[in-house]
Amino acid sequence: MAKKLLFGTNLKMYKTVEETVQYLKKLELVKRSLNDFAFELFVIPSYTALYSASRCIDQNVISLGAQNMCWADEGQFTGEISPVMLKELGISIVMSGHSERRHILHDTEDEIHKKVKAALNHGFTSLLCVGETAGEKECRIAKEALRRQIKTAYYDIGWEFIPQIRVAYEPVWSIGVNGIPAGEAYANEMHYEIKSCLTELFGNEAENIPVMYGGSVNIENCEKLILQQYIDGLFVGRSAWDAKKFGKLIQKATNFYRIREKKEK
Ligand code: PGA
Repeated sequence: MAKKLLFGTNLKMYKTVEETVQYLKKLELVKRSLNDFAFELFVIPSYTALYSASRCIDQNVISLGAQNMCWADEGQFTGEISPVMLKELGISIVMSGHSERRHILHDTEDEIHKKVKAALNHGFTSLLCVGETAGEKECRIAKEALRRQIKTAYYDIGWEFIPQIRVAYEPVWSIGVNGIPAGEAYANEMHYEIKSCLTELFGNEAENIPVMYGGSVNIENCEKLILQQYIDGLFVGRSAWDAKKFGKLIQKATNFYRIREKKEK
């Protein structure tokens, strides 16, 4: 199966409803102008913007996702949003385990597992974020940390869900304004580890699970990252929040991906 290159952005707690709508409309034009390039694009806005977002663009051009979700369909979970409610909005992706959810909002591995399972059971594409902390890297247990996050999230989940599964590798120390982008060789090594772990869990079909890199991706480092054999896409934060600039990044990365494809043939 020919793999499509993936690009996505998580808007975190940035952009109001109006700003999100304006951004998406511009990004839709950008995506259409890059028609020659085969890639998939998704945006994950804040909850409050999701309803308007789902109505202002064609989701065949840009897919939309939610940043988090409760595992239960309904119940006594004040402040939470259920899979049924997200289904109503017509969005297709649910992200779980983003570093800020794990480390600032204290989502546990058990909760992340329940969220991933609920997302898959409800037919969403589940985007699982994994990444080691600076301390885990320092102690040389980055690979163990990644394996643990993957194995706990996908515990008890069958291979039939493979087409709905995506993973983003985002080392905690690389994310945000104080983040240091991972070197491309290091990122590739961790992607290989993630893919090996997914194969152990799901068998050879796991090679169809795309693994994206995220954490301080920018116009300068996108080409080196996308040239790496095990990197299937880029999950971009700050460098994606201006639609035009994101378009330039995508165009550059896509051009370099073509070079990589030729080499791999
Ligand atoms: P950043 O964010 O690109 O701004 O570092 C990445 C992310 O959190 O997904």
